[in-house]
Amino acid sequence: MSEVHVMDHPLIQHKISYIRREDVGTKEFREVISEIASLMCYEATRDLKLQDVTIKTPICEMVGKELTGKKLAVVPILRAGLGMVDGMLSLIPAAKVGHIGLYRDPETLEPVEYYCKLPADCSEREVFVVDPMLATGGSSAAAIQMLKDKGVKHIRFMCILAAPEGVKKMQEAHPDVDMYIGALDDHLNDHGYIVPGLGDAGDRIFGTK
Ligand code: PRP
Ligand code: URA
Repeated sequence: MSEVHVMDHPLIQHKISYIRREDVGTKEFREVISEIASLMCYEATRDLKLQDVTIKTPICEMVGKELTGKKLAVVPILRAGLGMVDGMLSLIPAAKVGHIGLYRDPETLEPVEYYCKLPADCSEREVFVVDPMLATGGSSAAAIQMLKDKGVKHIRFMCILAAPEGVKKMQEAHPDVDMYIGALDDHLNDHGYIVPGLGDAGDRIFGTK
């Protein structure tokens, strides 16, 4: 069964409460989403592997630590996932970036695929799939299946808000994928929106609507 990490860092909680407010405009919403992604990246990379490295400081030689193991990739689910990419790259700048285009059909709530472009060596990387919202879980489960179909084996999923329905769907569909969740909300409404949520993340990031 996958691990579910719900963030308890006070800065993350504070910033999530801030962007939930309906009167926060596009510029601030986008900036704070990026900050949250960066803080969540810090939490989600706690268990990356390290190796010893001998270095020389201006004072003496010492054995320090550096990252080892798999190289990283960030894969946002378009559109709203794009809002998390810069924040992730601020901490893991050498990561490659792939893109998966999915939108949720407003009637059926089923994901519709329209784009997929991944780094050539994606299957050898540790991949962080990012999307601010995990609602029914249809979009993230489909995106992760697309990655698995292309041979990707090491996948983590990061979202800023999740509904319990989405977490359940992801655990059933992808029990091998650990989840990093900024805040776990109460339920979905009749239109598949997270309650209390923050509204439509894509529209709020890009100023559409
Ligand atoms: C939103 C969100 C997720 C999806 C979550 O995207 O960014 O991708 O809905 O819903 P689900 O868990 O029920 O699939 P949307 O389809 O609105 O597209 P957008 O990012 O282009 O606005
Ligand atoms: N997508 C969003 O952007 N918001 C929700 O609450 C659910 C899906």
